Amino acid sequence: MTELLGTRAELAAWLASTAGTRAVVLTMGALHAGHEALMRAARAEVGESGTVLTTIFVNPAQFGPHEDFAEYPRTLEADLARCVANGIDAVFAPDVLEVYPPDEEITEYEPGPLANELEGAARPGHFAGVLKVVSRLLQLTEADVTFFGEKDYQQLTLVRRLMRMEPRLADCRVVAVPIMRAPDGLALSSRNRYLSEEQRTQALAIPETIALVRQLCADGLTAEQAAHVGRGFLRTSPGVTLDYVVVRSVGLGTAPAVGEARVLVAARVGHTRLLDNGPVIIKGHEA
Ligand code: PAF
Repeated sequence: MTELLGTRAELAAWLASTAGTRAVVLTMGALHAGHEALMRAARAEVGESGTVLTTIFVNPAQFGPHEDFAEYPRTLEADLARCVANGIDAVFAPDVLEVYPPDEEITEYEPGPLANELEGAARPGHFAGVLKVVSRLLQLTEADVTFFGEKDYQQLTLVRRLMRMEPRLADCRVVAVPIMRAPDGLALSSRNRYLSEEQRTQALAIPETIALVRQLCADGLTAEQAAHVGRGFLRTSPGVTLDYVVVRSVGLGTAPAVGEARVLVAARVGHTRLLDNGPVIIKGHEA
């Protein structure tokens, strides 16, 4: 049975009534197959003797003043059905005052320079807002292990940093879950629902860019050369407005000359901003 918990008091009572390892999947709702992959990974991790809790909370702290907080899809009934279908033990779906009570001081984090690059450059304050809610919710839910999709790779990287920064989360592990893709290659995202049929097709240039950059890195181009070609490809793709194509180290520092790295892409299709990324191996020039 899936319990629906709306308040911290209900959450605390439920936590007190359960035992075993607790896996927590944090979401903003609008659940899709990508979230279900996180839920399945959570169950696989803790088994039947553990518990899996999903949070559904659209976090105002991570939306800028001109962003889509009000329009962000809220589909609680459908979300709950997905949680039930995935054998989730409890869903914590609080309102804003439960998470951020005005009489409590909620810890804010300084996520460091990476928070101002890539997604952070376009969305000032976004990652500080993400870290604030992630820390808050993982503490409230007493998580032993939590699951983050590689789809939001920069978020995953900064959450890993949060875990090193916040001693109250020292006992909580982060598990990364690979990107889920539609059969045609588009990474699953809540925002895909905003795309028209034509835009949905145009958006395929994004995973194609990932594949192109991966191939060029494997062929011996440097990270910057491969990213440069990727930018050119995306820039000339119809209906797509390039934001960035970069190749970075796996920790999102400067890319190495040789070895494992990550390609990250952001682009707009119509008014919808889409993200994608993937692993690459930089072969480097033969000596
Ligand atoms: O990735 C998301 O959906 C959100 O950023 C998260 C981690 C649930 C925090 O609100």
